[in-house]
Amino acid sequence: MQIKSLKNEEYPPSEDTFFIADNIENEKGNFALDIGSGSGYLTKLLSENFSFVVGTDINYEVLKHQTYSTKNLICCNGSDALKIKFDLIICNLPYLATDEILDIATDGGADGLEIPLKIIKSAIRCLNVTGKFLFVTSSLSNYQELIETTKKEGLTAKVIAKKKLFFEELIIIEAKK
Ligand SMILES: C[S@@+](CC[C@H](N)C(=O)[O-])C[C@H]1O[C@@H](n2cnc3c(N)ncnc32)[C@H](O)[C@@H]1O
Repeated sequence: MQIKSLKNEEYPPSEDTFFIADNIENEKGNFALDIGSGSGYLTKLLSENFSFVVGTDINYEVLKHQTYSTKNLICCNGSDALKIKFDLIICNLPYLATDEILDIATDGGADGLEIPLKIIKSAIRCLNVTGKFLFVTSSLSNYQELIETTKKEGLTAKVIAKKKLFFEELIIIEAKK
């Protein structure tokens, strides 16, 4: 699928941002990565409990003008530009099931899987053997398929938290090597 246009707007901290924030507040360690940093809200939160934190985003303009700016921001797909192994990787995925990618911050492509799978495949390489990868998805995507494909990529994957909203259910998946 082709990305037809690229909105340069920052995704403001939202229900899904706060949901993953609640689920990482007790995580501590050395190396942490926030894929799809957006406003930088979660990247900044990780900086409170990890010694070295990196944020990536595919949208350079968003990284340049981040509201919650931190050090170590890299513009790339997933973690493609990195060679570090992280203890914790998080991602508030663009998970909406869409025919086209019109908003890179939210649109996941077919079944809400196309972009998430690219990100997950990229992240696996940077996950420490003892590390944890937490990502947010939703009942608006085919999240069961996302779990199965994550497993096919060699990780364990399970739902660790759910939150019902008015029009969807947010889901956090934990994947490990
Ligand atoms: C739902 S927003 C989340 C932003 C922020 N992390 C939060 O939780 O509020 C998804 C972010 O992922 C970025 N993104 C989309 N596709 C990406 C990719 N392939 N690699 C890296 N970042 C990507 C978007 O630009 C956007 O900033």
